[in-house]
Amino acid sequence: MSNSLFRTKSIEKIVSEGSDESHGGSLKRVLTVKDLTFFGIAAILGAGSFSSLGGAVFNGGPGVIVLFIITGIACAFTAFCYSDFASRIPVAGSAYTYAYASFGELFAWIIGWALIMEYSIGNIYVAYSWSDYFTSFLERLNVHLPAYLTTSYMETKHAIAAGTSNAEFLAAWNESPVFAGVKFIVDLPAFIINILITCLVYIGIKESKNFSNLMVILKLGVVFLIIVVGGYLVLHNGLTHNWLPENTEGVKSFMPNGFKGVMAAVAGVFFAYIGFDAVSVLAEESKDPQRDLPRGMIYSLVICTVIYILLTLVLTGAVHYKNFENVGDPLAFIFEPQNLNIAWMQLLVSICAVVAMTSVLLVFQMGQPRIWMSMSRDGLMPPIFQKIHPKFKTPSFSTIITGIVVGIPILFTDKTFVLDFTSIATLFAFVLVCGGVLFLPIKEKVAGKFHLPFISSKFIFPAIIVGSMLLVHFNVNQYFSSLFVFKTDAATLTYNVSAIIFWITCLILAVGAFIKNWSLIPLMGLVTCLYLLTGMTAMNWAWFGGWLLIGLVIYLLYGYKKSKLANS
Ligand code: ALA
Repeated sequence: MSNSLFRTKSIEKIVSEGSDESHGGSLKRVLTVKDLTFFGIAAILGAGSFSSLGGAVFNGGPGVIVLFIITGIACAFTAFCYSDFASRIPVAGSAYTYAYASFGELFAWIIGWALIMEYSIGNIYVAYSWSDYFTSFLERLNVHLPAYLTTSYMETKHAIAAGTSNAEFLAAWNESPVFAGVKFIVDLPAFIINILITCLVYIGIKESKNFSNLMVILKLGVVFLIIVVGGYLVLHNGLTHNWLPENTEGVKSFMPNGFKGVMAAVAGVFFAYIGFDAVSVLAEESKDPQRDLPRGMIYSLVICTVIYILLTLVLTGAVHYKNFENVGDPLAFIFEPQNLNIAWMQLLVSICAVVAMTSVLLVFQMGQPRIWMSMSRDGLMPPIFQKIHPKFKTPSFSTIITGIVVGIPILFTDKTFVLDFTSIATLFAFVLVCGGVLFLPIKEKVAGKFHLPFISSKFIFPAIIVGSMLLVHFNVNQYFSSLFVFKTDAATLTYNVSAIIFWITCLILAVGAFIKNWSLIPLMGLVTCLYLLTGMTAMNWAWFGGWLLIGLVIYLLYGYKKSKLANS
């Protein structure tokens, strides 16, 4: 028995336990590489592109494309690391399981805890966005629901406190019934879709897979149409000047609010990429996980990156970036009468958005129970979380709990909060996955399996870091000296502290790379994800820190004692 908080589980042990039939029956192996790619796209393409893209474009202007590229690269490096782990450890559990093999139990628990943010809390944002598009779709069909049944209580409350003039918030606040002194304002469509998705996931993977594949085909088709029709009109109507709007000094610029404006969009842009990693939790349901999991992740990531770049080009060409303020349905908005003016596209986009977000909800709602199932098998969560339904072969109890964890907060939170929370926690998990791969032994190449190519970082990585620092120093006026100005506003101070920590970490890693000759790909994944974390606000860090602390207390009170590793 080991008392260490860092006790690790060997890969052989994880793999043999993962296929152990004693857990009440194994999951059905039905997924192929095409299904996994579709699952990836189903998870990635959703509220990020259909909803939060508007805010991102408003902050960064056309230059937000640069952030999509940086984030895409960070995710690609991370996908390679997930793939490497997934090909070594083809069992459910994702980053949680990977951390168990590399960093040990405490980190594994922390990751599992952070992943609740990605899978469950992220789904709250998607459910809210789903509700926005669903409601506007109903409006176009002349079906009008009362505003107090289609907005969240907290969002309305904050908007009213800020003196909003938004008609929907005002109507929700003024017309809502009052029970025991509390205004009854609830996002009912978001609540109901969560119940429906939970039921679907409960009854089984096969049904869910077919449903998901159909929805992905539909949304890819409509996104393609938006790009073709929108792109054609941007060129035909001579709107390309919108790609170089004027900044505050009247100079035409691709980044009218500077790089700071672009970085302000990081939570929204990163959210748009979350999902490729969800593929890895389907290890126990895929026919050939060793070969197909990495392929599924990387194919879906590449396809979605291209889509985001094209969509941003169409959006920022079709409409001046400043007009995207408070626009929650940017892809339909560009076809409104004052913009490109195509009514049928507006309707089609709102239907597609509902479909796209349904598939995102489905994938994450399937992922969360499977992570809990792995944690329960390890003794870090109560045994009931690993219960598999005798008929449907799904983790039934965990699925219901996921539905509750997503459903209840829908009644009490708001969109911005859950977006930030999800992004910071997921980035944190990505950092640990990339870091974890650095500590795994190099494995032999086996035909038919994914093999992370080893590229020596010994000279390349220090050169990249020193080169980047010189590039920034000579191109951004007083960049490094400005980081050490501590008497400034809270947002700048947070950025400065994060950036100082980031650059110091880079230098330490550069020395480590030179001495230890680490593999370049996970190292680049680590650094690019760390860079994206510098865009997070102090409030994000405070909430996330609090969440981790609660997780730590629960681990010490339960998992530390009940862990199978501790008692074996
Ligand atoms: N990437 C997923 C979405 O945009 C989470 O909805």
